Amino acid sequence: MISSGVLRRSVRLLRFSIRACERLLVAALPVVFALACFGCAGWNVPPDAKQMKNPVALNTVTLDSARSLYRSDCAKCHGISGDGKKPPDSMYSYRTKPTNFTNAKLVDAMSDGEIFWKITNGRKPMPSFKIRLTDEQRWELVDLIRVFAHPPSAPARK
Ligand code: HEC
Repeated sequence: MISSGVLRRSVRLLRFSIRACERLLVAALPVVFALACFGCAGWNVPPDAKQMKNPVALNTVTLDSARSLYRSDCAKCHGISGDGKKPPDSMYSYRTKPTNFTNAKLVDAMSDGEIFWKITNGRKPMPSFKIRLTDEQRWELVDLIRVFAHPPSAPARK
């Protein structure tokens, strides 16, 4: 027979342990959320990267070069005309929608340096182009994204 005193003590110990576990859980939750959100909180572009100026002049030569890079490296996700609609033959199958560069409001909200940094570093499922493309090629693509947002045929920006 277990004496009632031992039983009572065991129950108290058990209650204490449950309360301790609860407290630990409550304390740990924000940490868990913070860690989980670290990856989902956005691009976290460093402020000095945003300040970088585009050294590549926008002209027909640089734009043609960007167009051909775009066709081979970006169109399969961002769409041939930059509208974010993948072409029918694209293998793209992720849930995150590739950005629509014809959305002028969205593109205007980013500095050249910010777009450059994003192309350089990528963000899942978008790959990094740091090694695949040269700095100059990535800056040319920044110009092309601006042209997608403001095609020469469109009415002038207000
Ligand atoms: C595998 C598909 C894929 C490829 C290839 C790809 N992207 Fe992306 N890109 C994405 C996705 C998806 C996003 C949105 C990511 C997000 O919002 O988390 C994105 C976002 C971006 C952004 C950021 C826009 C914003 O809203 O902040 C830029 C700039 C960009 N891509 C440029 C390019 C360029 C230039 C290329 C080619 C050199 C390229 N991407 C290739 C999938 C891709």
